[in-house]
Amino acid sequence: HRKKVMVPSSPGGPDTYCIYTPLPENIEDLWNLNCKDVCEFHFQATFLVEFLGLDFFRLMLKFLEVPPTSHKNVIVTDTKFNNTPVRVYVPRRKSDTLRRSVFYIHGGGWSLGSAGNDMKTTFSLHSYRLAPKYHFPVQFEDVYDALKWFLNKNILEEYGVDPGRIAVSGDSAGGNLAAAVAQQVWHVKIRLKIQSLIYPALQTLDVETPSYQDNAYMPVLPKSLMIWFYSNYITSDSALRKAMMRNQHVPVEAAPLFKLVNWSSLLPERFLKGHVYKAPTFGSSELARKHPGFLDVRVAPLLAADSKLQDLPLTYLVTCQYDVVRDDGLMYVRRLRDAGIPVTHNSVEDGLHGILSFPVFKIYYRVMEEYIRWLDENL
Ligand SMILES: *[C@@H]1O[C@H](CO)[C@@H](O)[C@H](O)[C@H]1NC(C)=O
Repeated sequence: HRKKVMVPSSPGGPDTYCIYTPLPENIEDLWNLNCKDVCEFHFQATFLVEFLGLDFFRLMLKFLEVPPTSHKNVIVTDTKFNNTPVRVYVPRRKSDTLRRSVFYIHGGGWSLGSAGNDMKTTFSLHSYRLAPKYHFPVQFEDVYDALKWFLNKNILEEYGVDPGRIAVSGDSAGGNLAAAVAQQVWHVKIRLKIQSLIYPALQTLDVETPSYQDNAYMPVLPKSLMIWFYSNYITSDSALRKAMMRNQHVPVEAAPLFKLVNWSSLLPERFLKGHVYKAPTFGSSELARKHPGFLDVRVAPLLAADSKLQDLPLTYLVTCQYDVVRDDGLMYVRRLRDAGIPVTHNSVEDGLHGILSFPVFKIYYRVMEEYIRWLDENL
């Protein structure tokens, strides 16, 4: 299904071609993109991350950071929650009642981004230390410690926050971290009311789900880049990335975990079309001994037992049709519902991974508005 287009190169230079998978038609219409724009962006993004490393992207995102800027209705400040940098958005209007609050965790593959990459949302945003300088559990613990620090009677009082109306939320890697901390804070006295997970990555065991297979070359997040991010969250040792690319990284001792991510039994019928489930192929026990992180429930929240899921709060979950991690989200929706958790699932049929990072497209406003409306009604 690949196509080839010529891309401009310097005069007299060699002809340069870009090979790409044409985008589904509904995406091109709604996103107002032409395929060449996407193809070039995608090509450069993948090329730059995989071959030049992350520094270029870091620099670009640093350049896009904005200082905390208050608006007509919102006061924006930067501060720290237990040493983790946080951007706090507080309504200017004085309120007689306590406020609702969203603890929002940014995305970026556990490797990119900061609270300074302002999402133009009215959330408090958290920065955590990033890969490849830091690996799991640092990212998880930065977020977890900041959340625990916030879920404290005195802190909530200081911000005028209602302890019964707190949400944790995040997109992509931030959705992964939000799901992970929501599972771990059950013993904190103040309970979360809501978790809202925007196209989260939720499991490392099986990277040949139908969505990984169908969207392997899809912008903005091709399979190779997703696996690059996920494996780098755990370790810089490329052996893990290579084994994950072959889907042969899980040792036979971990075989019982596969039923928790079995897409054959957990996906709705319409997402199974044309896909035949194969029994897992196992990898070396040595790899898992060296890098046990990829089998950790805090990295792969889908590995939580059913009895653990029963304690989770009301859930909002967004999945995008053309996204490698779509099936992670779909399987979590199913497992949470089976455990008795009420879930509102927004399945975005014309969505790509990362839609809420691009406030220039129509689809951004549609998905964001639906999400905010739901939060307003439920938080
Ligand atoms: C996955 O589910 C299918 C049924 O849909 C079953 O036949 C298969 O044995 C399961 N595999 C694992 C590893 O749980």
